[in-house]
Amino acid sequence: MTKHPIRFFGLGLGPGDPDYMTVRARKVLESADRLVHFCKRGRRGNARTIADAVVGQNPEREIPLVYPVTTEIPADHPDYAAALNPFYEEAAARLLAEIEAGRTVAVLCEGDPFFYGSFMHLWWRLKDKVPTEVVPAVSGMSGAWTRAGAPITWGDDVLTVVPGTLPEAELTRRLSGTDAAVVMKLGRNLPKVRAALATAGLLERAIYVERATMAEEKIVPLPDLPQDFDAPYFSLIIVPGQGRRV
Ligand SMILES: C[S@@+](CC[C@H](N)C(=O)[O-])C[C@H]1O[C@@H](n2cnc3c(N)ncnc32)[C@H](O)[C@@H]1O
Repeated sequence: MTKHPIRFFGLGLGPGDPDYMTVRARKVLESADRLVHFCKRGRRGNARTIADAVVGQNPEREIPLVYPVTTEIPADHPDYAAALNPFYEEAAARLLAEIEAGRTVAVLCEGDPFFYGSFMHLWWRLKDKVPTEVVPAVSGMSGAWTRAGAPITWGDDVLTVVPGTLPEAELTRRLSGTDAAVVMKLGRNLPKVRAALATAGLLERAIYVERATMAEEKIVPLPDLPQDFDAPYFSLIIVPGQGRRV
């Protein structure tokens, strides 16, 4: 039986510093016929920026997928799904046409593709139609705790990962009783997240990390961050565990 060559890739590029890209990701980046990246209107996607270290701009090779909305509409609002569903449907159809024309398509992903990645919305639409490979990567949170010099889990520590988009009561419930935590998708959720961490008794140990492993990286103990601090979307909070040290 002949094995079908892979035509559709979810390419994890790591947390920002291109040196953290895997050998596999680099190989696919160099060889794929089409490089797909998600971006906001008028902006370059973070994943595409990471790829700059390996591939130059070639308009024929690039497929930018411009989100119709990002943070303007809350993700649990019906208008969000109404805008995003056709966007992903059209994007999947466009990539399928490329693949059926014999080309290899790589979707560039910041961090790991299967960890809160937009790529997943294309993956489940295409995975049963075309031979697919997902290339794993160092995640943003892994880059963050490494750069902060903060081992995240010791011994039997339990790690809880939450998106900062959850309501404050839910954040507090999820964070209470955990040994270690990561809060993703900060941005304008920072004040709410800070309040939830304080209620859960984790504020003193919390560390704010912005653009981990990138040139503009910022790492600050959360209690030292001004109350009115304007966090970008590309930031997270880590709370290192304090488990068994032998
Ligand atoms: C849609 S999720 C994508 C996560 C990504 N797939 C990963 O493996 O880290 C985007 C969120 O990841 C977090 N993030 C990813 N990379 C980061 C980095 N280098 N520094 C800080 N936060 C990061 C931020 O919280 C951001 O809001």
